[in-house]
Amino acid sequence: MLDNALKSATVLSVENTWAIVVAAGSGTRFGSAKQYADLGGKSVLSRSIATARKSCDGVVLVVRDIADGAKFGVDLVVQGGATRTESVRKGLAALPVNTDIVVIHDAARPGAPHELFESVINEVVGGADGSVPGLAIADTVKRVRNQGNGVIVESTVDRVNLVTVQTPQAFGRRIFEAAYLAYDEQNLAFSDDAGLVENIGGIVKIIEGDKRAHKITTQEDLIYVAQMMGLES
Ligand code: CTP
Ligand code: MG
Repeated sequence: MLDNALKSATVLSVENTWAIVVAAGSGTRFGSAKQYADLGGKSVLSRSIATARKSCDGVVLVVRDIADGAKFGVDLVVQGGATRTESVRKGLAALPVNTDIVVIHDAARPGAPHELFESVINEVVGGADGSVPGLAIADTVKRVRNQGNGVIVESTVDRVNLVTVQTPQAFGRRIFEAAYLAYDEQNLAFSDDAGLVENIGGIVKIIEGDKRAHKITTQEDLIYVAQMMGLES
């Protein structure tokens, strides 16, 4: 009896973590719906879902056509929107009420390892409003502007304090919903989900990114990701 009470107490204290896998894009730069491309015998999307499932309690899949989504064995399938931000917002609206932590993941990053999911989730469990993987920049970065017929350098940006960010990105569910409400009111454009949380003053912790989480944008990226994952594309 006591054992059972203790067990349920333990379960109650565990954060309920859900992933939203966004796969409602059209793959314009890739030339086709890249989320359904083959990557070593499995689709890009099924690989992304499998990793999200391993690290999270539930998965919401956001797709263009709900009928396509049914075969992936996720908990919920919802229809996406015209922009990535709209697709995330629709996924967010579908989350079960008892979700504590939400992890947003691009379907187009099939190589993101489950350890990356666990690292961002752990930062949020530890008190961060959000956590995202970041990679240091190797090349020199310049700020440029158009002048006459060409482009000229305005300044060199110190890359020491710059990172490029990937998904999975984890957030406390409440602050994430508040961030989306503010977004709806302000009608601003954000290129990633962390940007929305920063916009309302949230603290977003960077963890070390992973080359395998590279986003497939063009056909070349598919080959690169396959190599990084040790697969044939
Ligand atoms: N995405 C989405 N809904 C949209 C646009 C994008 O769910 N309206 C998803 C994509 O399916 C992808 C991720 O967001 O998994 C990252 O977007 P991106 O790499 O830009 O993919 P696409 O929009 O499909 O590609 P493109 O911009 O070349 O058309
Ligand atoms: Mg896009």
